[in-house]
Amino acid sequence: MVGITEPWFRHAVLYEIYLNSFYDSNGDGVGDLPGIIEKLDYLAGGEDSLGVDAIWITPFYPSPMVDSGYDITDYYSVDSSRGTLDDIKVLVAGCRKRGLKIFIDYIPNHTSDQHPWFQDSRSSRTARYRDWYVWRYPKADGSPPNNWLSVFGGSAWQLDKKTNQYYLHSFLTSQPDLNWENAEVRNEMKKALRFWLDIGVDGFRFDSTDYLAKDPLLRDDPPNKRLDKHKDRNPYHTLSHVHSRDGEKVYERLNDLTSVVAEYSGRFTVAENSPNKPDINQYFKGFYDKIDHAVAAPFNFGPINAPWDATYFSDFVGHFQSSLRGTSVPVYCFSNHDHERIATRYGHEQARTAAMMILTLPGIAVIYNGDELGLADGRIGPRTAKDQFERNEPGIGLGRDPERTPMPWTDGENAGFTTGKPWLPVASGYKTYNVEAQDKDPSSILNLHKRLIRFRKGSTALLTGSYHGLDLHPDVFSYTRRSDNEKLTILLNFSARPVTIGREVSGQRAILSTDINSPLPEVVNDHLTLKPHEGLILR
Ligand code: GLC
Repeated sequence: MVGITEPWFRHAVLYEIYLNSFYDSNGDGVGDLPGIIEKLDYLAGGEDSLGVDAIWITPFYPSPMVDSGYDITDYYSVDSSRGTLDDIKVLVAGCRKRGLKIFIDYIPNHTSDQHPWFQDSRSSRTARYRDWYVWRYPKADGSPPNNWLSVFGGSAWQLDKKTNQYYLHSFLTSQPDLNWENAEVRNEMKKALRFWLDIGVDGFRFDSTDYLAKDPLLRDDPPNKRLDKHKDRNPYHTLSHVHSRDGEKVYERLNDLTSVVAEYSGRFTVAENSPNKPDINQYFKGFYDKIDHAVAAPFNFGPINAPWDATYFSDFVGHFQSSLRGTSVPVYCFSNHDHERIATRYGHEQARTAAMMILTLPGIAVIYNGDELGLADGRIGPRTAKDQFERNEPGIGLGRDPERTPMPWTDGENAGFTTGKPWLPVASGYKTYNVEAQDKDPSSILNLHKRLIRFRKGSTALLTGSYHGLDLHPDVFSYTRRSDNEKLTILLNFSARPVTIGREVSGQRAILSTDINSPLPEVVNDHLTLKPHEGLILR
């Protein structure tokens, strides 16, 4: 990496490992920690590695796995199907050896209903842990205390017959919300952070932080007036969640958690806060205003819902960048284990253009495992569906299995992911979109990612430089990145047509194209032509 003084996390390439589907070391069909350890060289350290700076691992904690491990029964341990605490230590050491940072998922809003705390809590109204969860009496007619909805379908309240009270679950019924009004809960959650920081993790991905504070009066959420029922069939979106999440105390609680992270040097946190607010940029501005930039930043999920439109991206990124203060770390998120993959959303050629965008925008660049291969979503039939979300709300495209299929390592059996029966079928494109095949193909999207990441590491403009949007052509999202000693122009052709850019490029030279195997285009008579979908970096 080129010599810069900024802390590593301000410009890290963060690679999300969806643990269940990354690599299965023991043939039980599910990814595990030893599997990640085996594949570390793919990620970092070697000449031919992808070259990412940090990994984020989805949950490995003991869990009945009703929601992929986001339903924890013990915050201080590892599920035996995923490995052991010793594996974590080996993994941390393996990462350190390769200069790789490691983030773990941390889920503060809810536990599993199998967690001993909840088991005790539901046992009686006077139980030791009763107040660790949110319990309320039914209304006079027996119905739930208010109209709040669960993200995964139905009411957010579940009646527990034994004590005749409802408990709150913003997600599955088997994921009761912890009561963040209770100081013991808050302290316990901080204790869990310290436990993992002491083991040596470099940071956290905080799950669902906007749920950490709700309206203390439990008022009903109003109807969502902006909903377009023809386009959006998700029942959760019928309400505007102004009371059930994102309450006033969210930032106080978030800061309380990140204050623990700040006790350790060089650590960082990225928070999943995804409120359905009309102006997401305005919302994030407020977010950055209230948190400690030295240790935390929110994912910006704007790109996930964005149309493939150069002008849209130009406006979106321009507004967001101008709302940031110098110390805020932008974290554009284009993809993760909850959303359609990039290649499915935008197309295979566009996925290459997107790769250049992701790796040349300011801040932390997030890559979801498999996207570096251009992998598209798998097709999972209704009978093979594993995601409880799909089972609760079948057939309307809400299930998340398609983007969670096993990582394809080879074109062999089960795409080289497991010697057993994979927990989800591999996606049909694996014969082309696998690591082995793409490694060998010099023009592959995997090799494009490697080139871009290597280039980024040597570029002060990309790592630390300013962002300035350009307005060159409606189909070309274009911007400069400038540091004291380097100025780059990035041109991304969002269209399926060639586009010629005029005088603005004079005196500059193309140094990297998304079409990595062809000669770079020349600036001729002050004009430069981009091929369909081509992205270019000029210096
Ligand atoms: C986050 C996770 C998602 C999980 C949910 C509940 O959104 O990304 O996978 O289901 O939180 O924990």
